[in-house]
This record gives sequence, C-alpha cells and structure tokens, in this order.
Amino acid sequence: MTWSPKSWQERPAQQQVAYGDPVKLANVLEQMAQLPPLVTSWEVENLRADLAKAAKGEAFLLQGGDCAESFDDCRSEPIAAKLKILLQMSLVLVHGTRKPVIRVGRIAGQYAKPRSADTETRGEVTLPAYRGDNVNRNPFTAADREPDPELMLRGYERAALTLNFIRGLTDGGFADLHHPEQWDVSFAHGSPNAEQYEHIVSSIRESLNFLSAITGVENEVLRRVTLYTSHEALALPYEQAQTRTVPRRTGHYNLSTHFPWIGMRTAQLDGAHVEFFRGIQNPIAIKVGPAMTIDWLRGLLEVLDPQRLPGRITLIARMGADQVGEKLPALVAAVKGEGRTVLWTCDPMHGNTETTPQGIKTRRFDKILRELETSFELHESLGSHLGGVHIELTGEDVTECIGGARGLDEIGLERAYKTRVDPRLNYEQALELAMRIAKRMRAK
Ligand code: PEP
Ligand code: CO
Repeated sequence: MTWSPKSWQERPAQQQVAYGDPVKLANVLEQMAQLPPLVTSWEVENLRADLAKAAKGEAFLLQGGDCAESFDDCRSEPIAAKLKILLQMSLVLVHGTRKPVIRVGRIAGQYAKPRSADTETRGEVTLPAYRGDNVNRNPFTAADREPDPELMLRGYERAALTLNFIRGLTDGGFADLHHPEQWDVSFAHGSPNAEQYEHIVSSIRESLNFLSAITGVENEVLRRVTLYTSHEALALPYEQAQTRTVPRRTGHYNLSTHFPWIGMRTAQLDGAHVEFFRGIQNPIAIKVGPAMTIDWLRGLLEVLDPQRLPGRITLIARMGADQVGEKLPALVAAVKGEGRTVLWTCDPMHGNTETTPQGIKTRRFDKILRELETSFELHESLGSHLGGVHIELTGEDVTECIGGARGLDEIGLERAYKTRVDPRLNYEQALELAMRIAKRMRAK
C-alpha cells in the first residue's frame, strides 16, 4: 500500500474519537493544515542526529513532562517550572554521565490520552471518558465530555504559545549557567538532597569558569540550550493536519512535534498508528510494554525502519519493576541479534501505577527507581546500554507519587493531588531521581 498522510484511514484505528459533527471536524482540520508548523524539519533532523548518538552510547536522553498537559496550565509559571526542572535534571545527568544530555519535554502538544475504558461511571451516571484537552473537557457533565473538534485548534494554539515561551526562555538566558538564580532549588530547608545538588551545580560552574579563564571566551553554547518537544501521536486527524512536505527535503514531516511516540495501546502492526508513523521522517519512539513479543517488535522495526536509519527508533520500555527482569532481556537480545542499533530508554512510570486503599492512583518512588536500576543492569549484562529515561513529572510541589527523600505517604497524597490522568513526580522527587541515576552512572 502506498503511504500518504491519510493512508492510516484505511486501517483499524484504536482510541479514536467519534465526532458528532463531521462538517465542523473537516473545517477545523482544514484550518490546521493551513496554519504554520509548530516545529521545523531542521530541528527534527538535528534531534534525529542527537538520538543517533544516544543510540551509540555517546549521549543520554532525558524525556519528561506531564502525563496529560492541560489547557489551564498554559501559563507562564507552570511552563517555566517544567523547563527549570528539566534543565536542572539534565545538568545533574551531564555531571553524572559525562555525556551530552538531550532534553525532550512531554510538552506543547501532550493533549490527547488513550483510555482503558471508553466511559466513566460515577454513581448512576455514565459518560464518555475524558480523553485529553484536545478531545473533550474534564468536568463530569455530558456537555463537557462531548468531543469537540474546535478543541484541536485550541490545542494547536496552546502548543504554539507554550513553544513560543520556551524558545524565548531557552534562547534568552534562562538556561545560562552563569545566572545562579536559575539554578537555585526551591527545596524547603532541610531537604536531604539540597547539599548534593549544590555541590553538583558549583562543581559544574567551577569547570565553566576554568574553561572561560583559559580560553578567554565566554562559551556562548553554554548560555543556550535546546529543548525538543514530544507527545503521543494518538489523535491521528490532528497529526495528519500538521504533516507536510517541506522545500528541499524528501518525504513528509509531522511538524506538530519533534518527536512523536506510539503508545502501548496503539502499536498494532496492522493498525492505523503504525501506518501513519511509517511514512513520517521524524525520529519516532515506541512504547514497549509487558505484552510485547519478539515477533511483534521485529515486525514493528521492519515496518517503521526498513532502512535502519541512525536515530530513527527509540524503544521506551515500560514493564514495571516486577516484570522488567522477565520481559526486557529477550527483547533487547532480539533487537541486537538483528544487528539493529536502536535507542533503548526506560519509562519507569507506567508499569508501576497502583491504587491506594483510599482509591487514589499513585506510584512509589522506590519502584520507579528499582525499575530504572534493574534496566541499567540488564542492559549492561547483555552488552547493550540504557540510553535514556522517560519520566512523568511536574515542576511543582504536587503530591501524587509516594516516597522520595521526604517520605511522602498515602495520607500525604491528598494535600496537592492535581493530575488529571497519571501521578507525576514532583519537583523534588524528579531531581532526586536524576541524582540517583547520575550517581549510579558516575560510579561505573
Ligand atoms: C503515557 O505515556 O502517558 C502512556 C499512556 O503510556 P503507555 O502508552 O506506555 O501506557
Ligand atoms: Co501517563
């Protein structure tokens, strides 16, 4: 079958939305197809080259952000806070890994969510499930839960506003290591991690000062950073509308994001998502859950990367701490056995979700850390390497995951539980995780 940006429409598509008004939908998509892209093919190609380095073990990928971004959070503070935690984590990881860190946000478009159930029931009332701000609204009323095509346009605009602000901050000195205020941690006093973090920042700053003293130049590169965007390319009409050719390059680029991924629920070999992804030039990631088989994974790689392009494929394993030991090794060995070089990363969040007796969805810091550490070890023992992490986090002081240095417990979750979908590491837990990874990698 020849590929086109809409050839996915011939295939069975999971997790798609039935819109009540096809004329309105067509109109929205037509507008989106005319609007300028959110990212450029230049950036996309740069990212692919960076990911190719990570696949070879010469760089490390830090990918993180909300489970589901919300339109309400398209405000300066949450965006800046997210940028700040990602920058601080990356700094810690640079220090630990002695490698360049590729920063990718789950940001500027992470507005559509796969759901295990199509409906949600509260008491006597059953309504369509909330599927992300690009699709419907979160409040539990029939009107809010009705899918509205206009929301895709609002999502595209919010993504543009978010990205505009990020670009302004990252180009304009927000990431400048010489500005200590950006690197201050807002840890309340007495955090067990504050001292170690201060030590890392000051040691990096010393190296920089030394470098500029002996070279006599202020390193411009250090004043700027790149933050790439990513989201689950779930809502195919939205993705299609931003997929296009560009002058002087061959093929189609999905310019709604630098780095789209295929979620675990939509990775069927003959499905619409795989068909869509097959034809785009972006580097792509695939979530690899416990149900993945060797044949399925081989099939995906064959369809999605027949040319074996460096940097094309990232495999995000999300097995859960209890299953990673059993499930991961055979897959890693199989990919290796085919002579393929892919980038393996670990999402230690999605396989470790549980519900407390109080009915709150949470994740335990210890399990998150355990899945990560086990993954590092497994890769090493197989002559492979774990080249990145994929984390759900926020730059704010939420209470959604249990544990961490402050020992947040089940009761404490109620204080600031804000996520719409999955529980995220808060600022302090996220930085602690980065420090634990860095320490481990440094020791090697
Ligand atoms: C996610 O990343 O938010 C997600 C839904 O992941 P997965 O497809 O791995 O379940
Ligand atoms: Co999630």
